[in-house]
Amino acid sequence: QRHLISAADLTRDDAVLILDTAEEMARVADRPIKKLPTLRGRTVVNLFFEDSTRTRISFEAAEKRLSADVINFTAKGSSVSKGESLKDTAQTLEAMGVDAVVIRHGASGAPYRLATSGWIDAHVINAGDGTHQHPTQALLDAFTMRRRLVGPDAGLGKDLDGRRVTLVGDILHSRVARSNVDLLHTLGAEVTLVAPPTLLPVGVETWPCEVSYDLDSTLTKSDAVMLLRVQRERMNAAFFPTEREYSRRYGLDGDRMAKMPDHAIVMHPGPMVRGMEITAEVADSDRCTVVEQVTNGVSVRMAVLYLLLGGAEPAVTHARPTEE
Ligand code: CP
Repeated sequence: QRHLISAADLTRDDAVLILDTAEEMARVADRPIKKLPTLRGRTVVNLFFEDSTRTRISFEAAEKRLSADVINFTAKGSSVSKGESLKDTAQTLEAMGVDAVVIRHGASGAPYRLATSGWIDAHVINAGDGTHQHPTQALLDAFTMRRRLVGPDAGLGKDLDGRRVTLVGDILHSRVARSNVDLLHTLGAEVTLVAPPTLLPVGVETWPCEVSYDLDSTLTKSDAVMLLRVQRERMNAAFFPTEREYSRRYGLDGDRMAKMPDHAIVMHPGPMVRGMEITAEVADSDRCTVVEQVTNGVSVRMAVLYLLLGGAEPAVTHARPTEE
């Protein structure tokens, strides 16, 4: 593939290849010199029209570890404030010699438009678009689940078969939820969504997952529980749930976490709102993988960049990254 726009575009073999390549990339991070020469001479622009801490810095770290030249663009402080369009912004950057564009945008579909419009020739990687998709987040989440629940030697094609994953919270506005449902289904996991009825999208019954309104009984049957932030910035203020009521019904505290099986993990894509969807006790517990997810994100993004830009050959079976 030339682009990574949606987790739904990945076949099981594509996803497993990325996860296996990410295992190779993780070994680079354990070495004293954390760099590979793979993308030397290639230029990647990080084009961020929406705020980000993890994704933007993680992509930058991944690009630098692969020796790419990196250009960071944020809409704030750019000519976007003077009315410049996405097309003109992208063409301006490509005119400076860009091989790949990592884009985050508030509008669902912006990365797809960039990849398919013919405006630019560069590879396009979606770093989160509106409420639509965040494929590298889903990949790093699957990578984390595979390591914690299956082990690093997980067999090809069987990675998350039968694992039970529960996503809790604001599904309506969550690109992370959509990407995770798509990818986890592809990898054979069983996904359950738990949310207030007002925070479930119309048509959710057609998604490849179950829906439950009973968090406590779902927790007892989960291998991984992923909490999602209530995205107030995408809501009309009149619809904000109160923090107290939301955390009572849908938040994870120590008592609720104790209902989970002993091996089960707590996940969060970040940013977390402590006291709302997760208590500090849970966020700081050994069962919470939030920091591990961030670490894994660099390896997964290195794998995606390597497979899209590094060459035509599959990374693991034929063209292992050469060490510098
Ligand atoms: N998980 C995630 O996308 O975080 P950022 O918004 O900080 O990038």
